[in-house]
Amino acid sequence: MIKNIIDLCAEGFSEGLDGILSLFENDHSVNAEFGNPNHLISKRNKGWCVDGKRFLDMQTSRRNFCVVAGSGKGKSQVHVFPTLLNCQSSMAVNDNSGELASVIPYLNSIGVTTHVINLTEEGDVFINPLDGCKGDVAAMRKISKTLMSNSSKENDFFSISAEDCITLFIQYVLESEPRIHANLGNVYKLILTYQGTPKVIEKLMAEKASEEVWTKFKALAGNSEKTLKSITATAISALSWLGDNPVLTNITSMTNIDLGDFRKSPHVLFIQSPVSDAKFYAPMVALIFQSFYRFAFSKLPSEKDLDIMMVLDEFSSLIVGLPDYSNIISNSRKFKIPQCIILQDESLLSPYKELKDNILQNCFVKVYYGGQDKKAFELEKLLGTYTYTDKDNGQKKQRPLLYASQIRELDNQILVIPNGQKPLKLKITPAYKQSKLRKRLAIQMPDDTKDHVNYSIQYIDVSAYNQN
Ligand SMILES: Nc1ncnc2c1ncn2[C@@H]1O[C@H](COP(=O)(O)OP(=O)(O)OP(=O)(O)O)[C@@H](O)[C@H]1O
Ligand SMILES: [Mg+2]
Repeated sequence: MIKNIIDLCAEGFSEGLDGILSLFENDHSVNAEFGNPNHLISKRNKGWCVDGKRFLDMQTSRRNFCVVAGSGKGKSQVHVFPTLLNCQSSMAVNDNSGELASVIPYLNSIGVTTHVINLTEEGDVFINPLDGCKGDVAAMRKISKTLMSNSSKENDFFSISAEDCITLFIQYVLESEPRIHANLGNVYKLILTYQGTPKVIEKLMAEKASEEVWTKFKALAGNSEKTLKSITATAISALSWLGDNPVLTNITSMTNIDLGDFRKSPHVLFIQSPVSDAKFYAPMVALIFQSFYRFAFSKLPSEKDLDIMMVLDEFSSLIVGLPDYSNIISNSRKFKIPQCIILQDESLLSPYKELKDNILQNCFVKVYYGGQDKKAFELEKLLGTYTYTDKDNGQKKQRPLLYASQIRELDNQILVIPNGQKPLKLKITPAYKQSKLRKRLAIQMPDDTKDHVNYSIQYIDVSAYNQN
């Protein structure tokens, strides 16, 4: 009996000791060190550029990339320009300041097809965000949400009802009107007419709407006159930034590029909008990205389909228009749409609330620049500590791999944190300091290379329903 108790105690003690020993063995924080960059990046790779000269491979790029740095730190020069100039895939680029389009002559010279959609002037590219939504009410609802994002952040009765109202009219134009009329300009015009002369739209709906739309329309029309007016007024004010803007109504009235081509050969689309009005144009930029996501998720790409890399510069401005981004980034690997999120500060992702961590977790490689006070403390902890022998007294001491103050003061260097791998501290080389890239950027655009497409929106003629 006593022997058994002693055996049990001895067993327990040895297990405890093993546990404590293994705790020390597994505690990498006391042995923290920087990793070998050659395991992650190489000059020969074709994915996201990490330090200005070396790139991630495509497999890793598909697991997404995030850069966090203040203004003027080198986000464009170190990551975006080198990636664009090394590209072998297709891309959609949020080029809000218009500076990134300077790579176009070089891309054209190596056979890459380029398009620019400038939201302040009509050019050669038209994209109808409603294309591909027919039969997909969830996609229509996402578009309504994005359209509403500029006007209201509250989920009150009128915002929700206005969102339903916009979705209903989107469904109507997609199902019951010819393709030429199935666009947001017509949705706006119909709601405007409904506000002014409800009878006209009632007759139109009664004659042309599908059973489903008609049922929803009757429910909307069943509100009291005052309530209905408030709902339509909310919908109109949410849509007016687009509906009252002739350039936006025209460029969203049809699609003249085939997103399928982006899978077949390298195509790059630059989306340009004025920085001074970033907030105003953000939902439109988001709608264009949504078109790409909807296209990409519509079918699993084959082995030979090209990746469509998404350069989301100034991502914070796109957040309101991309409410389901967490879901998008979780699925980007399978659907070959590598994401590059560029942020001035991680806290800007806070509108995503609890999904913020999921978004960051889905970025396999994260890059941090100096200058971020709060993040520096977090990074000091994340990097861990290591043990060294004090030269003076031979004692073993511990210190962080980098102190927060050193992280804050990083200059010309970045911290690269790959998920589950050792961190890297790398020197950066901006594009303007590399003669090869400078030459590529200096290529001039031949005069008058792009055709200007002359096209205006065609509105639905409701005059036939106007008579008594
Ligand atoms: N051609 C150039 N010659 C010299 N310096 C340059 C050149 N182009 C950019 N720089 C400098 O390089 C730094 C990084 O510029 P970059 O455009 O990459 O910053 P950024 O992080 O993208 O800023 P932003 O948030 O404004 O987009 C800036 O300080 C800028 O002044
Ligand atoms: Mg920039």
